[in-house]
Amino acid sequence: MKAVKLEDKRPTWTSKYAFIITAIGSAVGLGNIWRFPYVMGQNGGAIFLAVYILIISTICFIPLINELYIGKLTKKECVGAYESINPKFKYLGVLNPITGVLISAFYFIVGGWIINYILKSLINNDVIDYGQYFSEFIQSPLYPCLLTVLFLFICVFITARGIKKGIEITNKILMPLLAIILLFLVIISINLPEANKGLEYMFKPDFSKLNSHMILAALGQAFFTLSIGMGALLTYGSYIKEDKNLVKSTYTIILSDTTFAILAGIMIFPAVFSFGMEPNSGAGLVFVTLPKIFSQIPCGNIIAFAFFILLFCAAVTSGISIVEGPCATLVERFKISRVKACSILFCIISLLAIPATLSFGILSDLTIFGQTIFDFLDFLTSNIMLPVNTLFLCLISGWYLKINGVNIINNKIFALLFDIGLKFAVPTALIALVYMGLK
Ligand code: TRP
Repeated sequence: MKAVKLEDKRPTWTSKYAFIITAIGSAVGLGNIWRFPYVMGQNGGAIFLAVYILIISTICFIPLINELYIGKLTKKECVGAYESINPKFKYLGVLNPITGVLISAFYFIVGGWIINYILKSLINNDVIDYGQYFSEFIQSPLYPCLLTVLFLFICVFITARGIKKGIEITNKILMPLLAIILLFLVIISINLPEANKGLEYMFKPDFSKLNSHMILAALGQAFFTLSIGMGALLTYGSYIKEDKNLVKSTYTIILSDTTFAILAGIMIFPAVFSFGMEPNSGAGLVFVTLPKIFSQIPCGNIIAFAFFILLFCAAVTSGISIVEGPCATLVERFKISRVKACSILFCIISLLAIPATLSFGILSDLTIFGQTIFDFLDFLTSNIMLPVNTLFLCLISGWYLKINGVNIINNKIFALLFDIGLKFAVPTALIALVYMGLK
C-alpha cells in the first residue's frame, strides 16, 4: 500500500506536449549549436551530415525509445528502474546519476563561458585578437569559476522548483524563443555575400572524405545530442502519464533535434565562408571564429547578443535535464525534498567543476591519463560512460527483459528491425564507439 501511495506522489507531465517539448529541450543544447557545427567542420562537411542523418534516424531511434520506454514502464528514477528489473542491476543503474554529475562538471563550464560572451556583447569593447581573448579568459583563475557556478546555480534552481513549475515552464518559454532567435540568425547568415559557399560545404557531399573515424564521430555526436545514456530521458519517460504513441514522440524528438542542428549549421557556415574563415577550427568555432565575424558586421553586437542568448537558452534546457536525473535519484531513494537534493548536487558539482574550470589555467599541469581535468571528464563521459550505460540498458531490454518490438511498434517489419537492432546492431555500434574512444 505504501509503495502505491509513493507512486501516486510522483510528479507527471501536465500534457503530452509538455513531455515532448522538455525532451526536445534536453536534446537541443550545446551539442547542436556548439558541438555539431565544429564536429561537422572537422569531418568534411556535407558527407558527415549525410552519415549523421542516416545514423540518427535509424540506429539512434532504438536506444532513445528504449530509454523512454523503460522509464515509462517502471515509473521510477534510474537506480529504482534498474533495480525493479533485477535487484542486481541496481549497481548498473547507479552509473547513470554518476555520469550525470560528471557530465555536468564540464557542461556547466561551457555554460559559464556563454554568460561571459553575453555580458561582453553588452559592453561593446574592442577586442583585437579573439583567439587570445578566449584563451586569456578561460585561463584566468576566478572569473570563469564564478560564471560556471552561476550557470550551475541557474539550472539547479529551476530543477529544484519541480517538474511543472520549474522544468516544464522553463522549456515552454525558452524553446520557442530559441527557435525564433535561430531563424532570425539563419536569415541574416544566408543573406551574407558568398553565403552559398557555406551552403555548398554543408549540402554538397564529397564522398572521398568518407571514413570509419567520421562514421564513429557521427555516432558519438548523435548519441550525445539526443541525451542518450545517463538516464535523463529515462527519468523524463518515468513522468509520462499516458503516451499511446511513443514511436511518434521519439521521432518528433529526433526530427526536431536534427532540424535545430542543421539550422545551427546554416547559421554558422555561410558566415564562416563569407568571411574567409576556416570551418575546422574545432571547439573555438563558436567562441573565437564567430565573435571575430560579429565584430566585422553592422550591428554585430546585437547579433552577438542574440547568438549567445540562443546558446544560453539551449544550454539551460539541457542543463536542467542533466541535473534532473541525479536529483530524482536523490529525492526518491533518500526521501529528501527536491530543494535539499538540488542543494547537495549544487555542492558536489561545484566541487568537481571548479577544478575542471581551473584546468585551463593554474591546474593545467594536473593531468589524468595525460589529459587535463576538463578533457578527461569530457572523454570519460562522452566516449566511455554514455555508450557503456546505453549498452547495458539495451542488453538488459533485449536479452534480459526480452522486450518485444511489437509491444512498442505497430508495424511487424519495423518491430522485427527494432528487435534485431536492440539485440545486435546497437550493441555492436556501441562497442565500436567505446573501442575507438579507447584507442
Ligand atoms: N543533448 C544535450 C546537448 O545536445 C546534452 C545533454 C543533456 C546530454 N542531457 C544529456 C547528453 C544526457 C548526454 C546525456 O547539448
